[in-house]
Amino acid sequence: MGSFKVYVSMFVLIAMLKSSSSSRYSSRYGSRSRYNYQPSLSQCLSDLERTLCPKANPCKNGGTEQSDGTCVCTDKFTGTTCEEKVNPCKNGGIDLPNVGCICTADFTGPTCEERVNPCQNNGTLLSDGSCNCTVDFTGTLCEEIVNPCQNNGTLLADGSCNCTVAFGGTFCEIVNPCQNNGTLLADGSCNCTESFGDTFCGQLRCESDPTEPNFCAPECDPEYLVFGFCDGDDICCL
Ligand SMILES: *[C@@H]1O[C@H](CO)[C@@H](O)[C@H](O)[C@H]1NC(C)=O
Ligand SMILES: *[C@@H]1O[C@H](CO)[C@@H](O)[C@H](O)[C@H]1NC(C)=O
Ligand SMILES: *[C@@H]1O[C@H](CO)[C@@H](O)[C@H](O)[C@H]1NC(C)=O
Ligand SMILES: *[C@@H]1O[C@H](CO)[C@@H](O)[C@H](O)[C@H]1NC(C)=O
Ligand SMILES: *[C@@H]1O[C@H](CO)[C@@H](O)[C@H](O)[C@H]1NC(C)=O
Ligand SMILES: *[C@@H]1O[C@H](CO)[C@@H](O)[C@H](O)[C@H]1NC(C)=O
Repeated sequence: MGSFKVYVSMFVLIAMLKSSSSSRYSSRYGSRSRYNYQPSLSQCLSDLERTLCPKANPCKNGGTEQSDGTCVCTDKFTGTTCEEKVNPCKNGGIDLPNVGCICTADFTGPTCEERVNPCQNNGTLLSDGSCNCTVDFTGTLCEEIVNPCQNNGTLLADGSCNCTVAFGGTFCEIVNPCQNNGTLLADGSCNCTESFGDTFCGQLRCESDPTEPNFCAPECDPEYLVFGFCDGDDICCL
């Protein structure tokens, strides 16, 4: 009987304690007039969790975590958690540690930012990829020298013109007055072939050997004088 009394007394005591603690709780948190704050249980738990278990910054490599949990990375990193290194090499270049950028054939520069100029002979690369050549060059890549020689003359390696036999002058612009395949020299005179002579190579050249049929000599019997060309004061004899 006595033990039953003790049991009931304890039950009553626990009930009283419970009610007093719940009233203390409500006076602490529930009274809007004193604290103006009524958190939900889940809010309390998440506040508690944040305090007791602070989360590590998910953003790697110096990235900054935003309030929504996303990362703002430094300019050298990218990816959701800034885990990926940004390739500093542009235009498909490959970044090699301790080496730098290995660029594709079309680009150059420390970060492959500069397009390699395929235009030769000081031609400039236009934005559409074509070449703007200097006046002396032509062709897709300015690889071809513009031939200044006129009338089918060919440009020689030294820049001079090799004219066809019909033309002369620096740029083959002069009709060649020299006959019989004689070439016009720069000074306007004719360079005749071996077989012809005179100003415009109009005369057959006589032989220098006196035993030949028409030979050149200082003088000959007027009867045997022939029309032909000899060097110097010589005349052509038969
Ligand atoms: C290209 O330009 C440079 C500098 O102006 C010059 O020295 C060079 O001779 C030029 N080359 C050609 C092929 O025009
Ligand atoms: C090509 O170069 C010349 C000479 O430098 C320049 O005058 C001309 O405007 C250029 N053309 C283009 C399409 O850029
Ligand atoms: C240049 O060559 C072309 C082709 O061989 C020919 O048709 C033309 O008549 C020539 N021009 C002169 C001035 O010789
Ligand atoms: C000039 O052209 C002629 C005819 O084609 C050729 O026989 C000669 O070798 C050329 N001269 C030079 C220096 O190339
Ligand atoms: C001039 O040269 C051409 C071609 O080399 C040749 O066929 C012709 O016979 C020559 N003429 C004379 C007069 O030598
Ligand atoms: C004249 O022509 C000959 C033969 O083609 C050549 O050897 C010579 O160098 C020429 N002379 C001049 C002054 O060009």
